[in-house]
Amino acid sequence: MRLTDEEQRILGGVFGEPQRISLNVLVKLGQAYGADSMVEIASAHVVGSSYQIAGEAGIAIYTQLLEQGARVKVRTTSDPGSIDFARWRELKTPPEYAERQIKIAELLDQMGVIPTWTCTPYTTFNVPRFGEDLGWSESSAVVFANSVLGARTNRLAAYVDLCAALVGRVPRFGLHLPECRRGEVLFELDPDLSANFDDHHFPALGYLVGQVTGDRIPVILGLRQATFDQLKAFGAAAAASGSVALYHMVGITPEARTLDEALGGRQPSERHVVGKREIARIMEQMSTGQGGAVDVVGVGCPHASIDQMRRYATLLRGKRVHTGVQLWICTNTVVEEMARRMGYVETIEQAGAMLMVGTCHNNCPLGAWGFRRLATDSGKFAYYTPTTVGTECLFTSTEACLEAAVTGRVERP
Ligand code: F3S
Repeated sequence: MRLTDEEQRILGGVFGEPQRISLNVLVKLGQAYGADSMVEIASAHVVGSSYQIAGEAGIAIYTQLLEQGARVKVRTTSDPGSIDFARWRELKTPPEYAERQIKIAELLDQMGVIPTWTCTPYTTFNVPRFGEDLGWSESSAVVFANSVLGARTNRLAAYVDLCAALVGRVPRFGLHLPECRRGEVLFELDPDLSANFDDHHFPALGYLVGQVTGDRIPVILGLRQATFDQLKAFGAAAAASGSVALYHMVGITPEARTLDEALGGRQPSERHVVGKREIARIMEQMSTGQGGAVDVVGVGCPHASIDQMRRYATLLRGKRVHTGVQLWICTNTVVEEMARRMGYVETIEQAGAMLMVGTCHNNCPLGAWGFRRLATDSGKFAYYTPTTVGTECLFTSTEACLEAAVTGRVERP
């Protein structure tokens, strides 16, 4: 790899141990992937903020780095933690566990990480511009930044993301290179399906696309429009069921104004037609259990936007969550505050639902609840919660999820 004079000096230890160690890690990563140089990044986003991910090793490493003077060099935001800092007692989080997450928060604060505690940093303090290079982890955020905003980042792993933050660079390979951003697998929507494409079809389609595509780049043809939240839900599902880090939706996402642009002037390596039957089949797969009594409902994955909070409040107004059911809505502190000012939080809480802020069902230890069946409108929750929460999962629409919370029962869609 060609390194600049400054990078050589970093490796020589001129700027301290944290930078030397970090650049060393990143150079080795770059060498493994054939990078020819490093590229400066506009921002970083780190998942090692969660105690569930970082563990005791994270606390030891962060402590050592701080003793050696570590400070992030670029704007850096934190992914959800493993507790809701305000409600961890209500969520039955063991105090000793909460204390370790609080310790990580203190260490990251000292390094200069902005405590956003969200998987949607692009809505608040870390909003990338088109073409900017980034060093991000969090699969749902990476796929949104690449696909919807046109920024450039590979899916970094925990710790590697912090290395990027500490030196403000990443190795230049993969999605940092224009030639590696061309679509490869084409999904054509049947006109029958695209004419009646509902909100919950976005995560279902994302789940299907991720499963088929793996780590390649899918191109979706046939949708006329998609909202911010629908793109967010689609990408998160595709990044969970596969490892999609970039998708193109023709006529919707910025590097896909035409099919030819999305494919970079080449032919796709595969073509798939998706119709109502394929969507029905994937929705079957996304539900691991039968319908019946539900004890936990999870919405807001990725973290809910203010539009989604308005929708939840509208759907819950004048209703009451069923006894024995927990309806938890995941979001971040910025959206929580706005939703509180706008009266949505009051409506949601009057209905008996609870906000889960700065974390989510997949990041918190929920063993004490003994949940058996989860209903969700999120493709990412549907993919992970059977393992992380140990429940059956029923994937359905947002309306059906909130209805399930009120009636205490959920049906397979
Ligand atoms: Fe965010 Fe948790 Fe979903 S981190 S994307 S709400 S699994």
